[in-house]
Amino acid sequence: MIKKELSEISGLIKSELETFDELFKESIRSKVALVDLIARYIIRQKGKKIRPLLVLLSAKIVGTINERTYRGAVLVELLHTATLVHDDVVDNADKRRGFWSINAIFKNKIAVLMGDYLLSRGLMIAIDGKDYDFLEVMTRTVKRMSEGELLQIRKTRKLDIDEETYFKIISDKTASLLETCCLIGALSGSENTSYHEAMKIFGESMGIAFQIRDDILDYEGNFSITGKPIGGDIKEKKITLPLIYSLNQVSKNEASAIRKKIKNGNKSENVNEIIDFVRQYNGIDYAIKTAQKYSLKAKEALKILPDSQSKIALESLVDFVIERKN
Ligand code: IPE
Ligand code: IPE
Ligand code: MG
Ligand code: MG
Repeated sequence: MIKKELSEISGLIKSELETFDELFKESIRSKVALVDLIARYIIRQKGKKIRPLLVLLSAKIVGTINERTYRGAVLVELLHTATLVHDDVVDNADKRRGFWSINAIFKNKIAVLMGDYLLSRGLMIAIDGKDYDFLEVMTRTVKRMSEGELLQIRKTRKLDIDEETYFKIISDKTASLLETCCLIGALSGSENTSYHEAMKIFGESMGIAFQIRDDILDYEGNFSITGKPIGGDIKEKKITLPLIYSLNQVSKNEASAIRKKIKNGNKSENVNEIIDFVRQYNGIDYAIKTAQKYSLKAKEALKILPDSQSKIALESLVDFVIERKN
């Protein structure tokens, strides 16, 4: 198959994405001046919009895009935006999408409240549309995302994370939302429950691959493309798949020497040493291979669906996710 750029994949449903953009902008504006100021700041930044894209394509692959699909797309992007605003507080991150993060400009208090505002706007959209099925899956997802972030914090204190726990964390904090995007899209587009199930598995597997790639980009990404500085995870003592694997390749003594460096990870020479260590023990290659495994699982899930342009688009999106530079 010929590899597609993200813009090419989005191009297949260009007018639907434009409709989404308008609805998203409307959904986030506020009569409260400070809220509206931050809302306009957020709208100016260009996220990849993978989640609304997943909702739209999932609806189309199982049936049709309709009003409910659009509400679902706005809902998931609002929730995603809320979690990014909160995540940057939790991770002490001062850059997002190449801009200053909300917490960097307005401080933590305002960022926390703005995140709550965005989340509530999302849930209101589902309530106003009487999309109670969306509300149910979304609420479960919010719960899993918070649990994932909390488990991650606990592990950064003890630095004792293993692969199994890593997968639990990324499945909760990231894959759960991508799974929900696909399920919401499928629920809006068709009543066929085996299609709903297939799209859930697709979203979950793709979501895991997506976060593994994000964790790789923290080691070797380019700030001008990702909009997030490299080494942020090490500075926050987050041990992700490339490092977990590399730590398992060396003796106990060597591993504990590296753990000590992670404890003092905010020094930039330690960050560089840890990045070199991961390179030396092929942690990145291992993570790439693991992401590929999940991408195959995602594509496998699509097999029960009829062949279509949307299917090709979703398959290409999986390839984009594991190779992306941003
Ligand atoms: C960032 O998601 C948060 C993660 C789950 C890694 P994206 O990389 O999709 O963020 P934007 O919306 O494109 O900025
Ligand atoms: C994604 O994890 C967490 C969310 C659910 C928002 P990261 O902390 O790695 O995401 P980035 O790298 O800040 O986007
Ligand atoms: Mg973060
Ligand atoms: Mg990250």
